[in-house]
Amino acid sequence: MLDECMEGLAIRPEGTYVDVTFGGGGHSRAILSHLNKYGKLLAFDQDADARQNAIDDKRFVFIDQNFRYLKNFCRLHHAIPVDGILADLGVSSYQFDEAERGFSIRFDAELDMRMNRQSPLTAKEVVNCYPEAELHRIFGIYGEIQNAKSLASTIATARLHQPIITVADLKNVIAARIPKGKENKYLAQVFQALRIEVNQELEALKQFLVQSAEVLESGGRLVVMSYHSLEDRLVKNYIGKGKFSGEVEKDLYGNDNKPFDAVSRGAITASEEEIKINNRARSAKLRIAVKK
Ligand SMILES: C[S@@+](CC[C@H](N)C(=O)[O-])C[C@H]1O[C@@H](n2cnc3c(N)ncnc32)[C@H](O)[C@@H]1O
Repeated sequence: MLDECMEGLAIRPEGTYVDVTFGGGGHSRAILSHLNKYGKLLAFDQDADARQNAIDDKRFVFIDQNFRYLKNFCRLHHAIPVDGILADLGVSSYQFDEAERGFSIRFDAELDMRMNRQSPLTAKEVVNCYPEAELHRIFGIYGEIQNAKSLASTIATARLHQPIITVADLKNVIAARIPKGKENKYLAQVFQALRIEVNQELEALKQFLVQSAEVLESGGRLVVMSYHSLEDRLVKNYIGKGKFSGEVEKDLYGNDNKPFDAVSRGAITASEEEIKINNRARSAKLRIAVKK
């Protein structure tokens, strides 16, 4: 949905833009191609490996930080107010394909799953040290796993005998909990839950959304692509209501007290053609908002 993202940003050629999920740099390159020599692009990625893809261009700055610090780093780079912000959430194909990062159910590796390898919390720590009730919550809420309680209890019992160190260890330990014929889907949900916890993805997204309203110029655009319902719900609620739960608040004059207006009604999804080429697009939801 590259074209839809670019349309959503409605790029002013001399404007200042932020790509908060640089990854392989595909979206950043597209943004740069719409900017003139006065334009500027800041790109965040909490994975320092993404710096390898940094673009050699005077208008471009790479920031190896979590986007939960959006406002501080935009300030540091004298970039506030900005004209548009793009987020393409989740893990990059590079991260999935690097076996040792432990993101993929396809490879064996230590249970890691950190996007930022300096951060102290790994999937191994979550699986071996979190209380059973916490594991139950994570698998139930982040993974939407039906038998989250028995899954958590299975892990809590197994680790009494031996620590669960690798992807293969985890698969062996939980094998009896996996519904027959649904192995891949179930494991993907388990991995998604652990990844969200390890990277504190929902907390970072909330902080980012609040700060995006603080750094955007009035009329500036926020474009967010998310890949699971928990993320999309946060984005949808913040754009629609200015908060993550509950109803929109009104000011003294009865106007909605919220920083954004939605540009598109509902979420934009990928076309059948795009899904054929890129399976990840199947679950993508794109939301576009304008700063009031
Ligand atoms: C789906 S990829 C982005 C791909 C990119 N749009 C492209 O064109 O190549 C998501 C990237 O965002 C990064 N990321 C995810 N959450 C982040 C966060 N909270 N702060 C900074 N970077 C984050 C990941 O490390 C990953 O490289």
